[in-house]
Amino acid sequence: MSLDVLRDRAVEELTIEEAAEELEALAGEIAHHDGLYHGKDAPEISDGDYDALRRRNDAIEGRFPDLVRDDSPTRKVGARPASGFKTVRHSVPMLSLGNAFADEDVTDFLVRIRRFLGLGDDDAVNVVAEPKIDGLAVSIRYENGRYVRAATRGDGQTGEDITANVATMGDVPEVLDAEDVPDVIEVRGEIYLRRDDFFTLNETREAAGEPHFANPRNAAAGSLRQLDVEVTKTRPLKLFTYAWGEASSLPAQTHHGMLEAFGRWGLPVNPEIALCNGAQELLERYQAIGEMRAGLPYDIDGVVYKVDRLDWQGRLGFVSRAPRWAIAHKFPAEQAQTVLNDIRIQVGRTGSLTPVAILEPVTVGGVVVQNATLHNQEEIARKDVRIGDTVVVQRAGDVIPQVVRPILEKRPADAVAYEFPETCPVCGSHAVRELNPKTGKPDAARRCTGGLICPAQAVERLRHFVSRLAFDIEGLGDKQITFFWEQELIRNPVDIFDLEKNAGDRIAEFEGWGELSMRNLYAAIEERRTIGFDRFINALGIRHVGETTARLLARNYGAFEAFRDAMVSAEIGQGEAWETLNNIDGIGTTVAEAIVDFFNEPHNLDIVDGLAERLTIETVEQVAATSPVSGKTVVFTGSLEKMTRQESKARAESLGAKVAGTVSARTDIVVAGPGAGTKLKKAQELGVTVMTETEWLAHIGS
Ligand code: IVH
Repeated sequence: MSLDVLRDRAVEELTIEEAAEELEALAGEIAHHDGLYHGKDAPEISDGDYDALRRRNDAIEGRFPDLVRDDSPTRKVGARPASGFKTVRHSVPMLSLGNAFADEDVTDFLVRIRRFLGLGDDDAVNVVAEPKIDGLAVSIRYENGRYVRAATRGDGQTGEDITANVATMGDVPEVLDAEDVPDVIEVRGEIYLRRDDFFTLNETREAAGEPHFANPRNAAAGSLRQLDVEVTKTRPLKLFTYAWGEASSLPAQTHHGMLEAFGRWGLPVNPEIALCNGAQELLERYQAIGEMRAGLPYDIDGVVYKVDRLDWQGRLGFVSRAPRWAIAHKFPAEQAQTVLNDIRIQVGRTGSLTPVAILEPVTVGGVVVQNATLHNQEEIARKDVRIGDTVVVQRAGDVIPQVVRPILEKRPADAVAYEFPETCPVCGSHAVRELNPKTGKPDAARRCTGGLICPAQAVERLRHFVSRLAFDIEGLGDKQITFFWEQELIRNPVDIFDLEKNAGDRIAEFEGWGELSMRNLYAAIEERRTIGFDRFINALGIRHVGETTARLLARNYGAFEAFRDAMVSAEIGQGEAWETLNNIDGIGTTVAEAIVDFFNEPHNLDIVDGLAERLTIETVEQVAATSPVSGKTVVFTGSLEKMTRQESKARAESLGAKVAGTVSARTDIVVAGPGAGTKLKKAQELGVTVMTETEWLAHIGS
């Protein structure tokens, strides 16, 4: 049955095979749209259609919990959030602001206020100027000083309930502890990500093969609006408070007095807030904040002016959805023109070829720009930018410089359309645009197929190889890997295990090293000559194969030799070896293809075999025998928060435990999550060891 037909069927009618087929397709489709969304490429479907896909996926998973895939959108970190949040009606609407662009708009704003209030020429109008933070508006409700609810702005009247997400933020106090905290107060402000945290987040995503966020604002939104609060918890979201909604009383009579109170109560308030008098002072402040903009650790997109006296604010009131007493003075779009001298191809960690515009240096908003991203092959073709063109450059969201368009009138007569390379500029391997099997369309990114032999990818892959969930070699971190790479001592994973043989005592003489650190490193490497089969697979850095898939493969093939031989003999799309791989529950076609491709590349096989010669790769049974839960009977009850029931069970079984459904005298461990009932009671009566999920994970060393 075709998928379109399937999709019209009620979830209740699907057979288990149909459900599995549809979940596989949905995982691919949703991942594709996530990529477009985060990459800020033109999305192909509306938010509504996207949410429908997510709902369908969730409904099928709800009915067939055993079919939840490794690559399910509900399990993916950083997937686009579905609109699965409860709604909250704001008791006081969350408004937007009118905009000012020119100096006259600011003078007019003050004139309007004076006229409205009927002020004389001598009456001073104090106005607070504050940076306009480029993040997401939030309303946080405190009752009797305690945090009770948080909501997004939504349409201003109704937002989404993000109480659990905001509760994870270090910037948001659980309790406001001061004499003058009203019984009820809704504090409003902006949630944002610092620029450095945004870059780090994108690096992590890149390493995990996940799409980049386009700017800090998108990243903050994506991090906050997560149905899985655990994801939000890992993101360093920050807050500035600058307004309020419902309040049972107010601690001050001025806006700046209110912000001072917020600060006293432990709420974060932006430090660049200034009290001004008259248009001149406001414009000077606007200028000053504009000058500090590039140096601030977070993005701002203007300055907000607010009448200071709250009684005046009350009299001025609102026009449609914006207050008369406030206005946002926006910074002009930061654009400049310059010449595109060249297009160079950068090879990313996962082998993706990214075109970079090499520009005649130009200042855009106070920052010198020499490079700008051109995203991918299609983007260059769509914009028709050519080497030699004069182009408009922009700093999008104040961060990543972009080439907006060429100025056709200035195009040199001999400029020719750019031809995107079909080989990797670093290693010469073929660079291909893989066909997305779900959409039938080629991926946006062209990828180098050189794998481990491509130097650009090699360092990053080495970093992955020694990382915590792979070989976990103490004393061999990112810095040391880069160092040994530069010294030509470690060029591939095999070299790590030949390091002592090849370098001997020389390492002790390198700067920053000594006899002791060298000995420690050699000892740490020795310690890892025996490794679990699943860790070994994970370490190889095969595309789409992370920790979970590695474990699945290890469980299914049992021993390294069996796996290696099967993969070498497998041909994509046909034969027994392929069928066996592709039929593993939890491994889709894309993943299976990536694995076979990896083993079909002779360079990769050389490395794999070189490692196997030097290492003892334990079989799954051997791993189980050394595990703390081997032979133990475990029962899971209540809801699990870190993993699905299916994954927890698989993990326990891979460690040699037996997973049972009922508690008896033979049960060794009961893992009880929230909502655990009779099974937990029975365990306590029988004196069986009871653990929380976190304790369990610590127990099994996860
Ligand atoms: S005051 C009734 N102050 O800008 C006034 N808003 O364009 C409510 N924003 O929705 C807003 N920094 O998300 C205010 N210092 C600041 C702000 C700020 C950023 C955002 C806020 C608002 C949007 C309006």
